[in-house]
Amino acid sequence: MSDRFESKVALVTGGSNGLGRAITQALTSEGARVGILDLQESEVFANNENVLTVVGDVADPETVRKAFDTVIARWGGVDLLVNDAAAYPNTLVVDMPVEEWRRVFEVNASGTFVCCQTFAQHRLARGGGGKIVNITTGSARSPRPAGSAYAASKSAIETLSNTLAMELGPHGINVNVVAPGYIDVRGWTEAFPDRASDDLRARLVNSIPLGVAGRPMDIAHAVLFLLSDVAGHISGAVLAVDGGSGAGRFGLQP
Ligand SMILES: NC(=O)c1ccc[n+]([C@@H]2O[C@H](COP(=O)([O-])OP(=O)(O)OC[C@H]3O[C@@H](n4cnc5c(N)ncnc54)[C@H](O)[C@@H]3O)[C@@H](O)[C@H]2O)c1
Repeated sequence: MSDRFESKVALVTGGSNGLGRAITQALTSEGARVGILDLQESEVFANNENVLTVVGDVADPETVRKAFDTVIARWGGVDLLVNDAAAYPNTLVVDMPVEEWRRVFEVNASGTFVCCQTFAQHRLARGGGGKIVNITTGSARSPRPAGSAYAASKSAIETLSNTLAMELGPHGINVNVVAPGYIDVRGWTEAFPDRASDDLRARLVNSIPLGVAGRPMDIAHAVLFLLSDVAGHISGAVLAVDGGSGAGRFGLQP
């Protein structure tokens, strides 16, 4: 067990389940204290004094500010930010109420924007420094039918991340993206455990050159790398963690 994140404080949105839970566990196992902002509290962290959960909606700017204030009051500051919380409905464009489109953008794009802004204001007031990792998806570049709002909102996060890398780089703040492919979160989430049928899972695995679904800890390892000191010269990058599925049209075998 390393102590790479000893004395660091992180805020992880969506940290109660799935990839966010894995990221939170990995960070605390390497010495960090983690504030979670999530719609629900996880029993997994109930007795962990290094995890503090603020229950609330990342789409509400006041809630985001309250979450930062709560974590800062407890541990003195926030050094690292991971934006993981997301809404991901499956709806065809012809059927999608505009309210659903707006909600996805409020959670994914605006929620990430307000968290990054609040974090940046906090870090700048402390003289700069810090790291942001935003979680997007391979769908941002290779979307699927019924995923329009999700993919478009994640593209918006990638563009926002590039802008932030330029605006915050001069203040010593790194901003990067981790773009997962298909990650099997069964056993890691109470949020939406049965989101994919067995048939869909099999088709997803068939599209992965490495031949297996990703695991939540695969994402956590990539996020921790980008949050760590050895990634000090990386900013404005998108790190795909997808078993090679974004490399090209793997289904077009000769
Ligand atoms: N699992 C995958 O295969 C996969 C693939 C690509 C990208 N991703 C991305 O990884 C991230 C995590 O996905 P997951 O599979 O772990 O999802 P999940 O649903 O298991 O967990 C998401 C967490 O975010 C929280 N959340 C959702 N909306 C919120 C809101 N408005 N405010 C606060 N918290 C909110 C949920 O309560 C939950 O704890 C998402 O950004 C998702 O787009 C996942």
